[in-house]
Amino acid sequence: MKNILVTGGAGFIGSNFVHLMLGKYSDINVVVYDKLTYAGNLDNLASVAADSRYHFVQGDICDATAVDQAMQTYDIDTIVNFAAETHVDRSLMEPGGFIQTDVYGTFVLLEAAKKYQIERYHQISTDEVYGQVLEGRSVETDRLHTRSPYSAAKAGGDLMCLAYYTSFGLPVTITRGSNNIGPYQYPEKVVPVFITNALDNKPLPLYGDGLQMRDYQYVQDHCEGINTVLRKGKLGEIYNLGTGTETTNITLTKLILKLLGKPESLIQPITDRPGHDRRYALDCSKIEALGWKNKYNFEQAVEATVKWYVDNEDWWRKIKDGRHYQAYYQRQYAGREVSQAVA
Ligand code: NAD
Ligand code: TYD
Repeated sequence: MKNILVTGGAGFIGSNFVHLMLGKYSDINVVVYDKLTYAGNLDNLASVAADSRYHFVQGDICDATAVDQAMQTYDIDTIVNFAAETHVDRSLMEPGGFIQTDVYGTFVLLEAAKKYQIERYHQISTDEVYGQVLEGRSVETDRLHTRSPYSAAKAGGDLMCLAYYTSFGLPVTITRGSNNIGPYQYPEKVVPVFITNALDNKPLPLYGDGLQMRDYQYVQDHCEGINTVLRKGKLGEIYNLGTGTETTNITLTKLILKLLGKPESLIQPITDRPGHDRRYALDCSKIEALGWKNKYNFEQAVEATVKWYVDNEDWWRKIKDGRHYQAYYQRQYAGREVSQAVA
């Protein structure tokens, strides 16, 4: 692994992965290939911009010619694909872009990986492909029961990766991560929306009864897990990657408010998300057997994330003050307030 193409590297998890890899290894080159959609942000990579081991290419993973050119120019031997449309609520509004990037874009990258016979193609996937898990924990061999356009598109990408492993012997690995939190997360996912709204004394729009459960993992732990699979993972295999503990959204919300010293009266129950998955839960013993483990527990992860948003107001205010964000927020949240009490 010497020349890594990090697709979607200007987004939340991808940029954290770039920081981790450049900080950890002196002998690698990282090429970020990113379309810079609303979620892509070069501010996330500003601190490595002058590093001679870092390169940036603006491009779409669906554009086979541009992908081919990047593969050749930088003599790529490893692809780590973070590029995706990633937000469930947006997938309910406009699913087409999810199918295009998360399925077709993955296919384009797999074709490039096959043509150049690279050492490794790693796909970043999600626990959401298992669908909601009301009891027990998902293991990697479970059937996929996707319920949102986002998770269905991600599952399509995963299955295409496995098909290229089986059909063409492409050296593929997949990690299925849980909900990540930490620096540089676009303020559409629940944690950055709630932290930044609370800082402005604005309502925190909590869906339904707030008792849905998610496994919130600190992004650096996720990135270390990806690196572990790149180095020690078995080809053709899937690895679940989370903390193995779940928390309700109301517990998460109250912790954020407590850490910021804000009142619980800011919690605003709103109409639930259609098809809202009640619970995700992962069994992570397979990746733990490779020697990886989390450094942050739930409270430490939320605390570190809250601190980052408090310390980096310029970063998120630039996004939230923008016209794109405000139009999205209005479309997503306006008129959904309900008066029922939450637990
Ligand atoms: P993000 O939305 O913050 O970033 C996505 C990045 O992909 C952006 O930089 C965007 O510009 C880029 N992109 C989108 N479409 C593209 C295209 N067609 N061509 C090139 N670049 C494109 O996403 P994230 O939260 O960092 O998620 C990264 C990956 O991890 C995704 O594959 C997602 O499904 C997966 N994942 C995310 C979470 C989470 O909690 N955020 C959890 C598990 C898995
Ligand atoms: P989200 O961050 O969108 O991640 P995902 O749906 O992919 O798990 O949402 C996390 C949880 O928080 C999910 O149960 C939905 C809930 N949620 C809210 O209650 N209010 C919000 O404004 C958002 C964005 C999410």
